[in-house]
Amino acid sequence: MTHVSITPVRVPAALAGPDAADFLAVAELLNAQQQEFWGNDDFHAPARAQLAGRGSTATRRRELLAARMGADPDAAIVGVAQLNLPLTDNLHTGTVNVVVAPGARRQGVGTELFRAAANLAADAGRSKLMAETDHLGSGPAGSENTASFIPHDAAAAFAEGLGFRLELVDRVSVLDLTGNDDGGTALLEEAAAGSGPGYELVFWRGACPDDLVDAYALLRQKMSTDAPLGGLELAEEAWDAARVREAEGKARGMDAEVLVTAVRHEATGELVGHTVLEVFRNNPAVVFQDDTLVLDAHRGNRLGMLLKAANLAKLRSIIPEARRVYTWNAEENRYMLAINEQLGFAAVGYSGEWQADLSVG
Ligand SMILES: CC(C)(COP(=O)(O)OP(=O)(O)OC[C@H]1O[C@@H](n2cnc3c(N)ncnc32)[C@H](O)[C@@H]1OP(=O)(O)O)[C@@H](O)C(=O)NCCC(=O)NCCS
Repeated sequence: MTHVSITPVRVPAALAGPDAADFLAVAELLNAQQQEFWGNDDFHAPARAQLAGRGSTATRRRELLAARMGADPDAAIVGVAQLNLPLTDNLHTGTVNVVVAPGARRQGVGTELFRAAANLAADAGRSKLMAETDHLGSGPAGSENTASFIPHDAAAAFAEGLGFRLELVDRVSVLDLTGNDDGGTALLEEAAAGSGPGYELVFWRGACPDDLVDAYALLRQKMSTDAPLGGLELAEEAWDAARVREAEGKARGMDAEVLVTAVRHEATGELVGHTVLEVFRNNPAVVFQDDTLVLDAHRGNRLGMLLKAANLAKLRSIIPEARRVYTWNAEENRYMLAINEQLGFAAVGYSGEWQADLSVG
């Protein structure tokens, strides 16, 4: 087998200058893989945005590893592994993503990258690694066996070969925003009429108002375990106001517009749910749905639909260039999927969430 060299890639302070060359090559390789997979540029992230998003923070250690064929340190980078290690919760876990350039596949590069990332994770005391694989196409309608939605393609075969087990299947859906010219108003009116009394909506863009930030942190924390996790051994995340501000700062650095609609229970003043949309300014046609949550005690009041319809209406008025919204939902998350189907989301593919045991030390 050809010798593969694996080296860490430092996230540079700026993109100009010789020390940024490896980072730029990695950013390009990751973009090329997204374009290869989706067949479009919806997931293209400019190097500047990747620079803002790939550095370590108080809550996440982020490592990048590059692979080259042979021992020449100036040879082209042919593969990359991204390793994320949470630092304030889930200290037993890490998340890994491996990408190999098409011309270098099936030569053991992916395996070497994975091993190097797994060693870093084990050295950091982690005992579980998580990975995600993406697959385009619609699953067999009505099948209860969600594992059958994940085809045995390169990504799944690679993960399985490395000892990962499939623990959860997400449906990837897209909402087409074109062709509805009332701006979502009818849907919002219907959602408002159908939702329980005693609640009011609160909206912000970018930074959460100071007086709501602790309540919002609690919602973000709940979100980490309230959505189905299948067999993924994940514990509740630790969120506080500082972590909310960190996430907002990262989004600003990545030039992303973040729209949040939350719902307040009028009797107690408590925030009891939220939904988040994210748009990168370099490509405002493409929108990503992030969290949607309604706290347990307030479910059954149709607040999920209200939140989503309201945030989509804000999106249409604030970012009229928005054309489509991507979302990921656990296939067993019937309530969320039902809301999304009513909103017009349609499946375009599936994601597998995998987990492997690491021997630590
Ligand atoms: C998945 C990916 C990283 C594999 O990289 P690679 O360098 O080709 O992997 P390796 O050569 O180390 O392959 C290891 C094993 O994975 C399996 N595998 C890899 N590609 C495969 C394919 N196209 N078909 C079937 N099995 C495959 C095989 O078992 C292979 O061992 P073998 O070649 O001895 O049969 C690469 O195809 C890729 O970048 N795909 C796009 C990104 C992606 O899906 N990443 C996975 C996220 S976990």
